[in-house]
Amino acid sequence: MLAISQLAKRFDDGAGLRHLALEGIDLAVGEHAIVALVGTTGCGKSTLLRIVGGLDQPSHGEVILDGRPVQGPTAAVGMVFQEPRLMPWLTVRGNIRLALLDLPRAEQDRRIDGLLDAVGLERFGDALPRQLSGGMAQRTALARALVRQPSILLMDEPFSALDSFTRLKLQDHLAALWAEARFTLILVTHDVEEAVTLADRVVVMAGQPGRIRRELEIDLPRPRRRTAPEVQALKEQIIQALDLS
Ligand SMILES: Nc1ncnc2c1ncn2[C@@H]1O[C@H](COP(=O)(O)OP(=O)(O)OP(=O)(O)O)[C@@H](O)[C@H]1O
Ligand SMILES: [Mg+2]
Repeated sequence: MLAISQLAKRFDDGAGLRHLALEGIDLAVGEHAIVALVGTTGCGKSTLLRIVGGLDQPSHGEVILDGRPVQGPTAAVGMVFQEPRLMPWLTVRGNIRLALLDLPRAEQDRRIDGLLDAVGLERFGDALPRQLSGGMAQRTALARALVRQPSILLMDEPFSALDSFTRLKLQDHLAALWAEARFTLILVTHDVEEAVTLADRVVVMAGQPGRIRRELEIDLPRPRRRTAPEVQALKEQIIQALDLS
């Protein structure tokens, strides 16, 4: 359903300084798959995700989503970033409603109620962002991204600013939402254990320019125990592929 072929991205500052951020990226992601993208800082993970989400254009190559080239943001793609990016003057409901303004009010409310329930925020719909914990704010961002029922959800280090306990809870919650709604998920993360616990496939990138260095299938039944020896062994393989030395 998602096909990225021969993708390259060159940033040009207009004064002759050029930076090749991505080169020769080929990646096919099937329906309902979870792909984790890992790689050292600056190897182009966020750039790749932004291009898939239609927020930026490639310099070369193309991204085909559900048979059509991606040319800009659409409701078929949901995005969650490292920080929740909520409007501070709107309540949780108001923030989620922003994604639904073209729908009738009753339909907006029906969808908001369903999503608040799904992310565990049913009692916080009228709260303002400053009244939320970091985890609750990220749950709101997740609800906003899912409320249009996207066929693909793109997440860029969504849990990295959270404490480790909240992060584990949200990982489990995300896995449950995925099992229910079955969207395709591309997750950028620095947390190798998160990648192995959630993904069907881990794509290891390296830069610069950013390229795909290795792909590992994670063929383990769900739910996965983080302490299972198979999970630990895969973590070790990924850390080796990252070549952090
Ligand atoms: N708008 C831009 N203009 C110029 N260069 C950019 C721009 N955005 C990203 N870059 C450069 O492209 C490269 C890839 O950046 P990107 O943010 O995609 O990396 P990343 O893998 O997401 O890193 P991190 O793990 O730190 O988030 C970096 O060298 C960065 O400086
Ligand atoms: Mg990034």
